[in-house]
Amino acid sequence: MNNSEELKDLVRRKYAEIAQQDKATNASSCCGAGGCSTEVATIMSDDYTKLEGYNPDADLSLGCGLPTEFARIKPGDTVLDLGSGAGNDCFVARAATGADGRVIGVDFTPEMIVKAKENARKLDYQNVEFRQGDIEALPLSACMVDVVVSNCVLNLVPDKRQALSEVLRVLKPGGHFSISDVVLVGELPSAIQGAAEMYAGCVSGALQEDEYLGIIRDLGFDEITVQKRKPIVVPDDILSNYLSAEELADFKAGGTGIFSITVFARKSSVDCCGAEVGATPGQARSDKTGQARHDNADKAKDPEGIHAIPGCELGSACC
Ligand SMILES: C[S@@+](CC[C@H](N)C(=O)[O-])C[C@H]1O[C@@H](n2cnc3c(N)ncnc32)[C@H](O)[C@@H]1O
Repeated sequence: MNNSEELKDLVRRKYAEIAQQDKATNASSCCGAGGCSTEVATIMSDDYTKLEGYNPDADLSLGCGLPTEFARIKPGDTVLDLGSGAGNDCFVARAATGADGRVIGVDFTPEMIVKAKENARKLDYQNVEFRQGDIEALPLSACMVDVVVSNCVLNLVPDKRQALSEVLRVLKPGGHFSISDVVLVGELPSAIQGAAEMYAGCVSGALQEDEYLGIIRDLGFDEITVQKRKPIVVPDDILSNYLSAEELADFKAGGTGIFSITVFARKSSVDCCGAEVGATPGQARSDKTGQARHDNADKAKDPEGIHAIPGCELGSACC
């Protein structure tokens, strides 16, 4: 289905519409909340209401996990939320960073940014900001973030490897992410793969679970752990919009799984210029992988040398 820009337009239009709906309309159009319809964007969400920092105005029931639960956010941390929507995870993260930390939400749907900013304004938070941007090209400098969180967004992004390499770029050495997302085990029927609603609804853009975890590994992240894995059941009345009764029965018997997984992973504490975590800027490492920063910067031009540091072969920035 479609090229990357068309997919992004489709997603932006869908989430602009959701941002402009009032909460009651949004909730009543989802299967989890009574009468079923064709909406799939809202059937996967977890209960946020007990979390510290929960802001009902920011909760549009669009997530598929609770990434902050495993994000190990500390007071004073800088946290980035990818695809922040109306700010649901940002306000929960703000409760963990406190007033001394900083929370940045990035989303490419202008209507979501307006809604999120309005939510932050009502709470008078000075350290929660929202930036409009594409997570394939994050509007942030390299190495400025302690923790990245994200809830049900990467499946919507055409180039997931590029988005995850942006995560690697903006994390500080030794920083980490906790990302909830949808993955597949087995193939979806072609009618579902090609359905725009199923793409915007976080199903058909999902990667195979092995491929998803493989990208994270290839990029050089450490400590990769699937913290939580839950099956997602798309109701029959939604599937039957795309499948005949026979196809539906085949699909259900076929064993394809749709899962929400929450993955933790850490960026190496050695950056591509060989600086160690906690070293003052410009300071050289003295162990065997470390060289003076300028030596390592030279390695970036040398495909052999750069392979010594995980992630650097993919062009990670120096911090
Ligand atoms: C399923 S919603 C999740 C929103 C939020 N994380 C939550 O849990 O409430 C997906 C969000 O990701 C945003 N999004 C999708 N693709 C994006 C991209 N390439 N760059 C930035 N934002 C994106 C959409 O605009 C939408 O707000």
